[in-house]
Order: sequence, then C-alpha cells, then structure tokens
Amino acid sequence: EFKELVFSGVQPTGNLHLGNYLGAIRKFVALQEGNDCIYCVVDLHSLTAQLVHDDLPGQIRSIAAAFIASGIDPKKHIVFNQSAVPQHAELAWIFNCVARIGWMNRMTQFKDKAGKDRENASLGLLAYPSLMAADILVYRGTHVPVGDDQKQHLELARDIAMKFNLDYQEHIRRAGRGIDITVGDEPVHAYFPMVEPLIEGPAPRVMSLRDGTKKMSKSDPSDLSRINLLDDEEAISKKIRKAKTDPDGLPSEVEGLKGRPEADNLVGIYAALADKTKTEVLAEFGGQQFSVFKPALVDLAVQVLSPITGEMRRLMDDTSHIDAILRNGGERARARAEATMKDVRDIIGF
Ligand code: ADP
Ligand code: NA
Repeated sequence: EFKELVFSGVQPTGNLHLGNYLGAIRKFVALQEGNDCIYCVVDLHSLTAQLVHDDLPGQIRSIAAAFIASGIDPKKHIVFNQSAVPQHAELAWIFNCVARIGWMNRMTQFKDKAGKDRENASLGLLAYPSLMAADILVYRGTHVPVGDDQKQHLELARDIAMKFNLDYQEHIRRAGRGIDITVGDEPVHAYFPMVEPLIEGPAPRVMSLRDGTKKMSKSDPSDLSRINLLDDEEAISKKIRKAKTDPDGLPSEVEGLKGRPEADNLVGIYAALADKTKTEVLAEFGGQQFSVFKPALVDLAVQVLSPITGEMRRLMDDTSHIDAILRNGGERARARAEATMKDVRDIIGF
C-alpha cells in the first residue's frame, strides 16, 4: 500500500471565489485532521492561459493567504508555491513523454479554454494535465480534493501513472523501488499510486448565480454575480438576493430539485456552507419561498466567509510573514520531491 498523502493546488489567477472555497479549500481544511497534506499555489499553471501577469507575487500571496485564513496550518502541513520546486517541471517533462497527444486532445477543459482557434493555444495549455499529474505524483500523492471540473484531469493522472508503471515495470523492479498493488484485477509493480479524487459533497460544482448552467469561474470577467472571497457583507448580500431563481418555492425533497439548476445550486451552497446534506437543508426550508431562503443563505454565507475575508486581508498586508511560510513550505516540499525524482531518474536510467 502507498502511504496516504493529500495533495491539491489552486492557480494564482484572478479572484478566488465561492466555488474555489467550497469545491477545494474548505475540503483542504477538513482533511488536515489525521492526514499528511500538501497544498500548492500552482503558479506554473497560471502561464498556460495568459503568459504575462501584472502582479504574480501578489496573486501568489493572496492564494496562500486564503489557505491560511481558511484554517490550514502551514506548520503541520506544507503550503508552498509550485515554481519553488523545479522537480514538478522535471517530472512533467517525463510525463509529457508518457502521455499521448490523443489523451490531451480529449480534455474538455482544453477544448473550452482553447476555443475555436486551437492552433493558436499554447502548448502549455494542452500539456496542463500532465503538469497537474506531476504536481501530485512528485509526492506520490494518493488523494486529491478538487471540484468536479477536475475529474477528467485526475483520470488522466491515473492513466499517466499506469502507463509509467507498466512501461517501466522491469526498470522499477531492477531499481528496487516499486510496490505491488492491484489495479482492477491486475497485479502491478507500481512506482506511482493511482490517485483518488475527493469530489463528493453537496457542492462539487458551484454554478454561476447569474445562470445555473455555467460554473462559477475566475476566468469570466463579465460575470458580476460571482461571490469572491474578498467580498464584503454588502456585496455578498446583494449577489445572493439577485441570484436567478424560478418562481416556485423550495421542495421538501432533493428529488424536487431536478430540472431546477438555480434552486439546486443555492441549496447545495447552503448545505456546503452549513456542513449539512441537501436533504437536511430541505427538511428545514422545504415549502418556503426564496424570499425566506435567500436571507438565511446571506446570513450563513456572511457568517462563514467574513472571518476568512478579514484574516485574508490582514495576512495579505503582512507580506514578509506569507513569504516566510511559502519559503519554509518550499524547502520541505523540495526535499520530498527530490527523493521521488532520485528514484525516477534511477528507474529511467539517467
Ligand atoms: P478556477 O477553475 O476558478 O480558475 P482553479 O483551476 O485554480 O480555479 O481551481 C482551483 C480549485 O477550485 C480546483 O479544485 C477546482 O476544481 C475548484 N473549483 C473551481 N471552480 C469551481 C466551482 N465552480 N465549483 C467547485 N469547485 C471549483
Ligand atoms: Na479549474
């Protein structure tokens, strides 16, 4: 058995929003108890869609500040910045040679982000999931808390790990580095584990409050309905009150949310913020109108988010403190990543 290790990353692009918090960061915090966790600001990824950034150091600090303000303990766990550990890029190159172009071309995020002019997308945008696999596997990470949009990328990470394990089977044995595992019914002498996504929960994909069919995203500047982690009480309240809904009230069972994406989204957000299931939320609010539910959601969102916002702002003002945390995390991460890369170089024959 591989030793359990939790790994996840967030890009330092744009404002962090409620989707990032509920789909990822809130889970990072919950997983700290009893697990070894590594949480990364993935700055190398932020070059894939946009090469030049005005204030990358500031963006990096704001993500680290959000992690810590949300309750991640950087002493017990590792919080660091991806580019501080060059082993990520080194393993990503090897994975670029493991992954097939056909696999990358099938990624829906690539298709969405590249749009119609695919020939003009960066090679990095196409290779993004290969770097993501390297981020996780350079620590031989086993569990990855992410939002639902990352599911396909994690399946690809498993494909890459599996192909590496199978293609280098004999080399791994010769180097004396592998572990016997079974994948399906197949016994495999594996160097890299098969990562498990941790996606479940009531809000695996937070949708836009403007339109329940699009995901809440950092990269849509025209969507003013997005709840940002740095929003104040008034902004949160305004956005939730304006959120699109249908004319019906809340159903008393989850079944009744079918075909009602906006209602489903708001109930899911409430449930995730309250650490409840949607069933529990509907047991409380079923039969009520949105004019009752929305103010309750505002109160809950403010109660959960405003302490985080305050602490984030405080931390972002103390740049030397955040930089020291990132430096320390980078050193600890680098030592672990280098241990893996020593093995990998041995296995390959470098
Ligand atoms: P974004 O997708 O906002 O540009 P990232 O790619 O850095 O941000 O994603 C950071 C984490 O936030 C990932 O685990 C991703 O799955 C999660 N995430 C992003 N948007 C959402 C959303 N709307 N709902 C749930 N999780 C999300
Ligand atoms: Na994303």
